[in-house]
Amino acid sequence: MTQKQWDAVDDYINTLLVGPDDALDAALEASAAANLPPIQVPPNGGKLLNLLARGQGATNILEVGTLGGYCAIWLGRALPPGGRLITLEIDPNCVEVARANVERAGLADVVEVVLGSAHDTMPALEGPFDFIFIDADKASYPEYFTYALDLSRPGTLIVADNVIRDGAIIDANSDDANVKGVRRFNELVAASPRVTATAIQTVGIKGYDGFALVLVTA
Ligand code: SAH
Ligand code: DHB
Ligand code: MG
Repeated sequence: MTQKQWDAVDDYINTLLVGPDDALDAALEASAAANLPPIQVPPNGGKLLNLLARGQGATNILEVGTLGGYCAIWLGRALPPGGRLITLEIDPNCVEVARANVERAGLADVVEVVLGSAHDTMPALEGPFDFIFIDADKASYPEYFTYALDLSRPGTLIVADNVIRDGAIIDANSDDANVKGVRRFNELVAASPRVTATAIQTVGIKGYDGFALVLVTA
């Protein structure tokens, strides 16, 4: 199986089940024009997060790592009236692009883009959140998971992106900071008595990667 086939199947799914969307398409165009790297969740991944948040009945959502706000639009749309999404981003250029994208999507009153390192902004937040999406620097996933637990209640769903990294994740001797971070994250999840979790491998337009799903139970 090849990347070409994964692309074609993602294209089939995205055309049939996700479809074109003015605000999301404009967000991608503006992000590309501002030279942001195209590393946002794919359309079917954004919709997966949207469906999970809706299934969860989430009214308070936290995203760690905004980029241009593509995923924030998917998550912001999952909220019922009165709901709120806070999304954390360290790069001022990303924050500027994301705020404009969120505004164009009609979500400016719902989505707050917070500038700063999540190491500083996350511990200062007030929880609990119903749904937390961890997607910033992979080396910091262990810290983000610890903060996320502090911001959770029984029933909170924590989702972490990019936990497979082309399978590099099984290399216990890797000196890649991203791999080490995700492996430590997995170990913390496995050791926490407050959660039950799984991870799913994915292939598609973003290559071979995956999500971790962590349900807070206590
Ligand atoms: N969730 C986005 C993609 C995020 S990409 C989407 O799917 O649309 C990862 C983002 O994390 C980048 O924009 C990067 O600048 C940001 N980031 C990296 N380190 C960070 C930190 N310490 N605090 C907050 N954001 C960080
Ligand atoms: C990459 C992909 C991501 O989804 C992300 O959050 C960060 C980096 C990447 O492919 O480099
Ligand atoms: Mg990601």
